[in-house]
Amino acid sequence: MAETLLHLVKKASERHIDSVIRDRRHLHMHPELSFEEEATGKYIQSRLQSLGIRYSTGWAEHGVVAEIQGGKPGKQMIALRADMDALPIQEENQVPYCSVNPGVMHACGHDVHTASLLGAAALLQDIRDHFAGTIRLIFQPAEEKLPGGASLLIKQGVLANPVPEGILGQHVHPPLEAGTVGFREGMFMASCDEIYITLKGKGGHGALPHECIDPIMMAAAVLTGLQQVVSRKSDPLVPNVLTFGKIQSKGGANNVIPNEVRLEGTFRTMNEEWRRDAHQWIRTTVNHICASMGGTCDIDIEVGYPFLVNDLALTRSSRQYAAEYLGTENVIPLEPRMTAEDFSYYSQEIPACFYRLGTGNKTKKITSPVHTTTFDIDERAFEISSGLMVFLALRRLGNQ
Ligand code: NI
Repeated sequence: MAETLLHLVKKASERHIDSVIRDRRHLHMHPELSFEEEATGKYIQSRLQSLGIRYSTGWAEHGVVAEIQGGKPGKQMIALRADMDALPIQEENQVPYCSVNPGVMHACGHDVHTASLLGAAALLQDIRDHFAGTIRLIFQPAEEKLPGGASLLIKQGVLANPVPEGILGQHVHPPLEAGTVGFREGMFMASCDEIYITLKGKGGHGALPHECIDPIMMAAAVLTGLQQVVSRKSDPLVPNVLTFGKIQSKGGANNVIPNEVRLEGTFRTMNEEWRRDAHQWIRTTVNHICASMGGTCDIDIEVGYPFLVNDLALTRSSRQYAAEYLGTENVIPLEPRMTAEDFSYYSQEIPACFYRLGTGNKTKKITSPVHTTTFDIDERAFEISSGLMVFLALRRLGNQ
């Protein structure tokens, strides 16, 4: 029996692969920044329309949500999600489908995700008489920018009426070869908060430190002091990163003590309770260090995405279904990463599985990481990107 669905999805996938590649190339040529995905939204609508699939619009502005119900009896629902936005990067690839929008590029593969979900829509519509259950397709804007499209869509009710049994999302991954996918159960990606600290002292002559309050020395003490938060206050079994990528004094010179120093950093972890405690420890530590040196400070913590947890049961079964679809050798176990992704909001609400789609090809030298000017994919990834998503969802809905 299992072969029936497998065969059906694979055949349908072959029929639609050319249009998936066309969609992706079109989207790649016309990238739009977060919360500005107007043309992308319109394009998704026109493609769904041509497939005869009903949809609703106005999800965090340019998002689109559609549902496809199978012809066999079944009440359960699985949601599939793709993000739509591009990055403020000037593309340097020399390809026919290069971005025509200066300074904007699909450098994180969200064009691939959207095109693959459109492909999944086409496949599902094609074989709808043969499966039970409903698939909700979520085309989500603004993954790359706080507060993140996912949080807004959830507030708008994208996980309600009815609540899906689970949600699946995929993300391109250049380190994995096209034709493979990667899974990880449990903790998968980090929460991500932005830390902005302004240290205020009193500037003056570098030779007369006793007449000044030196914010440079405050910065040195704060930077080392804050590492105590992640090394002494945190449970050592909880992953943590506290990185400051920018230190800037306002004025100052080799012999001039400035008035102010600003620090900008990122705090990442994988435990929501500790995350809240850590924010408090960061504030306490900085305040006390500044006070001990006679200075003052402003601390601004911009709360970003939560951590991403892959549901054990859903991820285990998805990995097993992926092995049925691709062969065990093409399903790769992954380690957690301290990068962040707003799919995490869904994972905090309902059982979720976020997996990686192999898009690299070492032989063809397609290895550039995401968020670079030369990121691209091996289009062979489309041989599985839509079909696998459909197969994972339909198997989870009990179809054989
Ligand atoms: Ni991304």
